Amino acid sequence: MQHDIKNLKLAPKGKKLINWAERDMPVLRQIRKRFKKQQPLKGITLGACLHVTSETANLVHTLQTGGARVLLCASNPLSTNDAVAAALVKYFKTQVFAIKGENNQTYYKHLNAVLNAKPNLTMDDGADLVGLLHEKRKSQLPTVVGSTEETTTGVIRLKAMAKDKALKIPVLAVNDNLTKHLFDNRYGTGQSTIDGILRATNVLLAGKTFVVCGYGWCGRGVAMRAKGMGAQVIVCEVDPIKALEAKMDGFQVMRLIQAIKKADLVLSTTGNKHVVDEKHLRQAKDGVILAQSGHFDVEINKPALKKLAKKISQVRKFVTEYQLPDRKINLLADGRLVNLAAADGHPASVMDMSFAGQALAAEYIWQKRGKLTAKVHALPAKLDQRIATLKLASEGVKIDKLTAEQKRYLSSWQEGT
Ligand code: ADE
Repeated sequence: MQHDIKNLKLAPKGKKLINWAERDMPVLRQIRKRFKKQQPLKGITLGACLHVTSETANLVHTLQTGGARVLLCASNPLSTNDAVAAALVKYFKTQVFAIKGENNQTYYKHLNAVLNAKPNLTMDDGADLVGLLHEKRKSQLPTVVGSTEETTTGVIRLKAMAKDKALKIPVLAVNDNLTKHLFDNRYGTGQSTIDGILRATNVLLAGKTFVVCGYGWCGRGVAMRAKGMGAQVIVCEVDPIKALEAKMDGFQVMRLIQAIKKADLVLSTTGNKHVVDEKHLRQAKDGVILAQSGHFDVEINKPALKKLAKKISQVRKFVTEYQLPDRKINLLADGRLVNLAAADGHPASVMDMSFAGQALAAEYIWQKRGKLTAKVHALPAKLDQRIATLKLASEGVKIDKLTAEQKRYLSSWQEGT
């Protein structure tokens, strides 16, 4: 069986991590039980490009239990847990191609290794597999029934492809599930980003000025958690509605060029390029810590930072110090997603819902093969609600039901003042 991982001897350690995550993934466990009986993915070769974590291993196990042959590569060069990769190979017989810290060339070699297996279905976190299929491996497109996409950045990219009529296969935007972005992006990113910053630096957040760029679901989560730990949080936004929400949620809102002068920490969660640009770097306070938890490492202008620096040194495992003529700037995790590079990513409890969405999306797209257009599709709301219902049930939470009178009232218009 082909694979390319760091060290197979790490497998026992990885298995323990996978078991630990499984405890907190009751929805996925339920889906796995059903998949075992119904075998909805029987005969499929599924190529997945995801962060190789213990939570992802539980998704892979579920897909395999449903009958799929799964090949897995990393969706980011720094997010692989090498022990988990080894456990997947040894105990689950998954073909894994991922090594933490792999260079760009190896990263693409691994994506190509997955596509060499001629998957009928792909699963992406950031649209790199779909991108490669459309750019360099077009001849393979007719054999792919569709793909699923995990993250906001990937969905934006795929929608841009669809708009340009460049997208040739249907894609299910798992990120657009309410049970995904309201929880994973907000509470998952909120917690795991702070976790990554703290593991990388061990700084005290209380009393620090913490600037969050972007007030989407990820930015909201981080701002909320940083505030909870006693930081003075400033939000920078380009969207007037989101900026107003941030203001009314109790945060200071201002332009980054002003905020950066006060910032002890700056975190970018926008998904956009050069949000922290050269002009901001030139105004940053001595000792500032910069990080990002967006998908690609483009949010902080790294080339500009390199250009401004006289000396660059690694001062802690995930901290690079850039010595400018008069100041020092610290960059975490080489400007890559700090929550997965310096910590373990989102907790299993939220990934449970995100990956339940992935498993149901894979089943749905396979059931509907040949019937979906080459566009970005949402998962049916019913499936989203099913995930929430299963999650509530797993936590022993019961909710109220509408009475017949209430249902009638909500669908009528005659009853007024
Ligand atoms: N994205 C964010 N956190 C993750 C995790 N723990 N596993 C897989 N993908 C993730």
